[in-house]
Amino acid sequence: MKICVVGTGYVGLVTGTCIADLGNDVTCVDVDEKKVENLKKNILPIYEPGLEELVKRNKKRLNFTTSIKEGMKGAEVIFIAVGTPPKHNGEADLTFVKEVAKSIGKSMDGDKIIVDKSTVPIGMGDLVESIIEDNYKGKSRYDVVSCPEFLREGSAIHDFMNPDRVVIGAKKKDAAEKVAGIFAPLKCKIVITDLRSAEMIKYASNSFLATKISFINEIANICERVGADVSTVAEVMGFDKRIGAQFLNAGAGFGGSCFPKDVAALINIARSEDYEPLILNAVMEVNKMQKKLVLNKIKRMLGTVEGRAIGILGIAFKPNTDDIREAVALDVIKSLAEKGCRIKAFDPVAMPNAKKVLKNVTFVKDAYEAAEKTECLVVLTEWNEFRELDLKKIKASMKKPVIVDARNIYDPETVKKHGFEYTGIGRN
Ligand code: UDX
Repeated sequence: MKICVVGTGYVGLVTGTCIADLGNDVTCVDVDEKKVENLKKNILPIYEPGLEELVKRNKKRLNFTTSIKEGMKGAEVIFIAVGTPPKHNGEADLTFVKEVAKSIGKSMDGDKIIVDKSTVPIGMGDLVESIIEDNYKGKSRYDVVSCPEFLREGSAIHDFMNPDRVVIGAKKKDAAEKVAGIFAPLKCKIVITDLRSAEMIKYASNSFLATKISFINEIANICERVGADVSTVAEVMGFDKRIGAQFLNAGAGFGGSCFPKDVAALINIARSEDYEPLILNAVMEVNKMQKKLVLNKIKRMLGTVEGRAIGILGIAFKPNTDDIREAVALDVIKSLAEKGCRIKAFDPVAMPNAKKVLKNVTFVKDAYEAAEKTECLVVLTEWNEFRELDLKKIKASMKKPVIVDARNIYDPETVKKHGFEYTGIGRN
């Protein structure tokens, strides 16, 4: 099938490439000319494990252009996969989605199915339909379908090819079935429902995952006060199938371009319907506090923070990505810089992005250089390469052997045996 995907970010490029890998002819559209030129040369705008090879492998079925009109030519299905970033009040900014819907309306060249892949507020499918209606007066049929993405950055290709479920929301069954046909080769559960339920499934799923994280972080904070170990507590909780082991890693809080944005957007949606979402408010509150906890721990370990030499391990919002959006590390580093700390930071992949937004930080070549001559080493992203560092070498190079492990990647006993003062999150 000929398919068009608008947006070549973390969602759009993965979706377009994977759909091409399923045998479809895909044209990916982006307004950014530089991005499109680079993509034609197999230079990707994002880091996602395995994506570069997948794009290369599908180059016969993948095209890139800045023109929606060109991308839509002959395409039966058009995926909208552009950003819906949060406004200052948390509401989703729909500018890009609306612009794309308008361009689609002006570029119709036959029957189309328009698929909302971006996370859009409840009712957005209807709005996209009305925008197309305003801009297209021809006879071709168009249906708007919601097909929310459930990709995790760093494992996006795996998540696309092995989905727990594909959700398709539509008014017309035949439109839903046409979209379902694209995912049929994945041999997975395909749920067809109405537009608004599909849009809500996405928000409810992400908000629940964020709730799990804030829940275990709250339990971690109580564990610290009662002398329990949250890693053990979480592991044993997870044996209960009703709870499940995943998303129970206590840490410095959740970041990324999804959880903070989606929970805030759902809070806004609820409030716009005169409902105050108490649990979701608490999820955001706990997460905000958790980020501050890291600074308090550094202060507790050093006595003071002002002007101290601090080493930071990890800047990306999670491992296996270069994405620093809403990363905890950004908050922690900015607060330390405001206190005049001398900061050295290392991240295996995210430093080019970090350099664009962080000042008063020395970026170094590896974890050992980040630790050298510092008074406290802070783990903010659980990259695997930080798990097996030579602790003897680290200790010998530090001015003060202090570790604040904000992602609980170390065993407290092992680290203490190496002569470090150690604090994790909810560890004892
Ligand atoms: C998330 C959802 O998982 C995915 O289904 C959706 O499509 C997009 O949003 P993503 O934001 O890429 O994916 O990353 P995820 O792995 O979910 O982690 C989000 C944040 O939660 C990260 O900052 C991570 O460090 C944090 N996290 C995750 C925890 O603090 N503890 C956990 O147990 C899991």
